[in-house]
Amino acid sequence: MKLLRTTVAALAALAATPLTAQELTLYSGRGETLVAPIIETFTAETGIDVRVRYGGTAELAILLQEEGERSPADLFWAQDVAALGTIKPMFAQLPDETLDKVQSIYRDAEGRWIGTSGRSRLMIYSPERVEEEELPASMAELTDERFNGRLAVAPTNGSFVAHVAALRVAEGDEFTLEWLQGLAGNDPVMVSNNTAGYQAIADGEADFMLTNNYYLGRFLANDPDFPVAQALFDDGDLGNLMMTAGIGVLETSDQQEAAVAFIDFLLGDVAQQYFTGNVYEFPVSGAGIVPHAGMGVSFAQASEAAPEFDLNLIVDMEGTLDLIREAGLI
Ligand SMILES: [Fe+2]
Repeated sequence: MKLLRTTVAALAALAATPLTAQELTLYSGRGETLVAPIIETFTAETGIDVRVRYGGTAELAILLQEEGERSPADLFWAQDVAALGTIKPMFAQLPDETLDKVQSIYRDAEGRWIGTSGRSRLMIYSPERVEEEELPASMAELTDERFNGRLAVAPTNGSFVAHVAALRVAEGDEFTLEWLQGLAGNDPVMVSNNTAGYQAIADGEADFMLTNNYYLGRFLANDPDFPVAQALFDDGDLGNLMMTAGIGVLETSDQQEAAVAFIDFLLGDVAQQYFTGNVYEFPVSGAGIVPHAGMGVSFAQASEAAPEFDLNLIVDMEGTLDLIREAGLI
């Protein structure tokens, strides 16, 4: 009987070992145009195929929670931090050798997810209409009357909502609601998203915006004279929050090793250079990555000025949207 059980276990193990090429299933909140070429390179290098399910990051996070242990996903690659904190309990612990590849601000303190590229929050402004002494030292100052009618706001943008969620964690709901009401009462220039905000400043419709860093690289690629500049708040201010796109391995995956190999590949120089060059986000690892010239705030400056903040705490997007609504911004 004992022998039989061993044989059955051995056969089961054999059946679980793919005889042909290995295949990973990736749920990707990052877009196909960005992700597909880098996956092809991974497959060419390792022989491991990757089946990808693309979708919105928040939508895939909900799907993963619904699927639970039955999920076919080995990996979840999220566009933003809000989803990483939500799915964290479903992620497996990553090995130290993988975690050690990035600075602590780019990964979960308990090692269940890791950033694949950095997306810094900062100020953009018109170098033509803004004097340097007008630049705010703190995100909290954005309610000041000197911003009246001059600040672009994209109230439903995922990064803005995540940033406001971070403000709730840091300063509490009362402070956050007052801050949002201050923005709303200051006659903001409402825009639909970050791209529209950059454009509004270039077009002279707004002078400032709290936004994400990487759009500037995209605009400059089309127009080297694009008239928008970037600035950081004071060192450690929450306005300089470093958010990441990030990835984790599902605890239920039976291909932990191959899944970790995929993550290691994303943290390697080839992939890091690719993200930096194609989406103008910041590399999270690799000293040899060539940054873009003239991109405004550099990776070194942004990392230096970023506050220490546990990105896992950015989870309550619905409650945050409610506050933004209550303040009258939506
Ligand atoms: Fe974005």
